Amino acid sequence: MHLYPAVDPIPLPAPIWLLKLLHIVTLALHFVAVEMLLGGLLLAVLLSLFRGSPQSMTAARALARRMTVVMTYVINLGVPPLLFAQVLYGRALYTSSVLIGIYWISIIGLLTLAYWLLYQFTGRLEAGKSAWWAGLGAWLLAGSIARLLSTNMTLMLRPDVWKQMYSASAMGALLPPRDATLEPRWLMMMAGGFFVGGLWMVYLGGRSTFNAEEKKFLAGFGGKVAALCGVVYLVAGLWAASVQPEAVRAGLHTDALYKFAGFAGYGWVALVAVAVLLAAAAGFARLTASWVGWVVALVALLVEIMLVVYRDGVRDLSLLAQGYNVWDRVVVTNWWVVGLFLGLFVAGLGVVGWLISVVARARKTMEGAA
Ligand code: HEM
Repeated sequence: MHLYPAVDPIPLPAPIWLLKLLHIVTLALHFVAVEMLLGGLLLAVLLSLFRGSPQSMTAARALARRMTVVMTYVINLGVPPLLFAQVLYGRALYTSSVLIGIYWISIIGLLTLAYWLLYQFTGRLEAGKSAWWAGLGAWLLAGSIARLLSTNMTLMLRPDVWKQMYSASAMGALLPPRDATLEPRWLMMMAGGFFVGGLWMVYLGGRSTFNAEEKKFLAGFGGKVAALCGVVYLVAGLWAASVQPEAVRAGLHTDALYKFAGFAGYGWVALVAVAVLLAAAAGFARLTASWVGWVVALVALLVEIMLVVYRDGVRDLSLLAQGYNVWDRVVVTNWWVVGLFLGLFVAGLGVVGWLISVVARARKTMEGAA
């Protein structure tokens, strides 16, 4: 029986390894931005709601002020992996997207509303007005978007339920039947938000735009949150790995191509453990040196890269077990186009780097009390 639609007769325009590499790099960056949004936003809401001290309000405003910018990165860094995933896994991903079509397309509306609420949150907080409801609303919407993405990324791996779903409704109005991997996967992304959000506060604690008390608060509070939620993140990740089908778990240890992804899984565990220890040290000793901030930022980036490599192996092996081999495609590389793309990609990264350096060099104004 053919579980997948027929392959597109147009060959792939670039080597599969290159498309996968670009997919992994851009998705890891998307995940960093997503985790900053999911964690940083709720931390800002809670800090603004429980107005514990002037420092906690400064921290809430500092996080909120950055949130609309983070959202632009979430969106812009989400588009490239979507394109690469569609090229590589289109027959699975398009099918699952159509099956949950109404929910899938609703992401655009949810995203627009979340973005508007983010501006409300930031603006109201700056103006000293009650803002928690706007921030909480934006966070709930972002969490729902994350849930829909997890739903689609798991449904694309389950061709066995597609026919049954389509027979029940061709409107795209149904959600898939229960999947053992969905809850741990989503929980992991949500817990990862607080982990990364906490590390982000430790990073901010090393910035010169805060006074000494504010820096200590940022590092102390953020470090403790990251250490605690890092443990939850670790447990959720191990849970997500443990519910994968036997063929996938075995493949990560034995398949020559995917052993690397298995190692990345161990790398992820080790890096999260290191980050938890670093965060605990920063949190309890209230370390505000800027190098501490840079180290935790680097560790957070590496954690997401490891996660994406591991996740990539899990997806390929899950699909392979159902007869979908991502490497089994006709490739006719158009090197001129690939070269042009890579040139523009590197130039784009350069422009973003330059923009960041301009912001870094801009005249600093204190974010809280001078
Ligand atoms: C508030 C906005 C967003 C949030 C909270 C969010 C969150 C997430 C989460 C949690 C996942 C992982 C799902 C899983 O595998 O379990 C994910 C994956 C993904 N997101 Fe986003 N996302 C957002 C916006 C976007 C946008 C606007 C795009 C594209 C235009 C996008 C593209 C993707 C893609 C392509 C993947 C999966 C790629 C793959 O598996 O190959 N996301 N996102």
